[in-house]
Amino acid sequence: MSIIKNDFEKMNITKIKNSKKNAKKLTMITAYDALFAKLFEEIADMILVGDSLNMSFAGRPDTLSATLEQMIYHTKAVCNGAPKAFTILDMPFGTYINKDIALKNAVRVYQETNAAAIKVEGGEDKASIVKHLTTNSIAVMGHIGLMPQYVRSEGGYKVRGKTLEDSEQLIRDAIAIEKAGAFAIVIEGVMSETAKKITEAINIPTIGIGAGNVTDGQVLVWSDMLGFFEDFKPKFVRHYMDGAQEVKNAVNQYRNDVQDTSFPSQKEEY
Ligand code: KIV
Repeated sequence: MSIIKNDFEKMNITKIKNSKKNAKKLTMITAYDALFAKLFEEIADMILVGDSLNMSFAGRPDTLSATLEQMIYHTKAVCNGAPKAFTILDMPFGTYINKDIALKNAVRVYQETNAAAIKVEGGEDKASIVKHLTTNSIAVMGHIGLMPQYVRSEGGYKVRGKTLEDSEQLIRDAIAIEKAGAFAIVIEGVMSETAKKITEAINIPTIGIGAGNVTDGQVLVWSDMLGFFEDFKPKFVRHYMDGAQEVKNAVNQYRNDVQDTSFPSQKEEY
């Protein structure tokens, strides 16, 4: 099946913000390298170089040990492979702990990569840092709800917005991040009823992951949605292909062909 790419439009902050008014749902996908970024470039509205790469690419148990160097390396690769994409670099844990450190690191990201924006996790607690970044010309995407960088301080990955109190806190978080100048907010692992209230409470787009279809857009980790990650399947993930099985079948076929000498054939030799 061929994909007709006749509606590709390079995104910018204004178009992303307007998509909410125009009720155009936004599609974001992660990418960590040039090869896959090129495949997604003219299909997805935004590419996120998520710090999830620390788990799926570096094989670490969580995102906490991702470094800025690592994120810059992968973002350069993504921008090289997909120069037309609106690419967002996920600021890793510890790189935005106060205003000065955050700005210094964000400026480094802008100077060393072609990322269009950065993403930071946090709500009311991080609003003053986000404000400092946006008033210094850094485009910021927020991230509230289940925040993987808070895994140890929260005692695990917990779905948010189950109680009225937590739901109200999340709405305050979203409003604070919007007021701080963010252009969009990721809402992760939030009860869909709460995600709906958050989406209605703010004027910038919400991009959901595990937050129902009520947000202004969706984001998925590429290796989850293409079925390459086999350890477990979170409830909110849809597998659009069985990547792991297809790769194993192909490599198995290659090994068989090598063993029975049907590869390479005469057509494949000089
Ligand atoms: O790191 C990541 O991939 C993310 C998405 C899950 C939103 O932050």
